Amino acid sequence: MNILAPSLLSIDFNNIERDAKILDKAGVKWYHLDVMDGMFVPNISFGPPVIKAIRGITEAFFDVHLMIEEPVRYIEAFKEAGADLLTIHYEACENLSETISKIKEAGLKTGLAVNPKTDIAVVKPYLPEVDMVLVMSVEPGFGGQKFMPVAIDKLNWLKYNLNPDNPNIYIEVDGGINLNNVDTVLDAGANVIVAGSACFNGDIADNVTRFNEILSR
Ligand code: DX5
Ligand code: ZN
Repeated sequence: MNILAPSLLSIDFNNIERDAKILDKAGVKWYHLDVMDGMFVPNISFGPPVIKAIRGITEAFFDVHLMIEEPVRYIEAFKEAGADLLTIHYEACENLSETISKIKEAGLKTGLAVNPKTDIAVVKPYLPEVDMVLVMSVEPGFGGQKFMPVAIDKLNWLKYNLNPDNPNIYIEVDGGINLNNVDTVLDAGANVIVAGSACFNGDIADNVTRFNEILSR
C-alpha cells in the first residue's frame, strides 16, 4: 500500500488547525514534518513545540524529517513532541549506528535519508536496522523545487538491494513530487510519497484525493 505524506512546510501557518482537518477528512494518514536548523540546511523551519501543538489536533502518524546536525541530541525532545518516526540524514551524523540505536531505544521508528549527491550504496549496511529509507529528490532546505531525476536511479538501486529480512521497509521520496510525475517514482519503487506544494497549493482536499487515486492504482 502506498502512503501520501503531505509536507506541512507548505501549510498555511495561520490556519494549521483548519488545514489539518481538511487533510484528515480527505484521508491523509501521515504528516511529513520538516525540521531545519539553519546549519545542515540553509533554512530554519520549526521544532518540537510546533510539532507538539499539531499533535494536539490530529491522530495522524508523524513522519518527522530531521534536517539538522547531530540529531542524536534531540531524539527525546521529538519523542516528547509526539513524533512516530524520526528520519535522520546520513550526512548529518558523526555516529550513525549509535543514532539509529538511540531512536530505536526511544521506541520510535527510524528513517535514513540521503541527499541527491550522496551515493545510495552508503545505506546498505543500515538496511536491516531502519524502517524507512528517504531518497531526497531535491537539495533539502526548501519546498517548491524541481524534481531531480537522480532519485529514480536511487529508487531502482533500492529495489534490487533491499534486505530480504526487512521486506516491509518504507521507501520514501521527497522533493518536487506532483500529480504529473508521481507515477514515475511509484514505478521506481517508492511507497511513501512526500508532497508539499503539490498538496497545499490550490484546493487541498482535491489535491489529496487526486494523489490518493494515483497511489491506490
Ligand atoms: C525539502 C523538504 C521537503 C519539502 C517538499 O527540504 O524536505 O519535504 O517540503 O516540498 P515540495 O513537495 O514542494 O518539493
Ligand atoms: Zn522533507
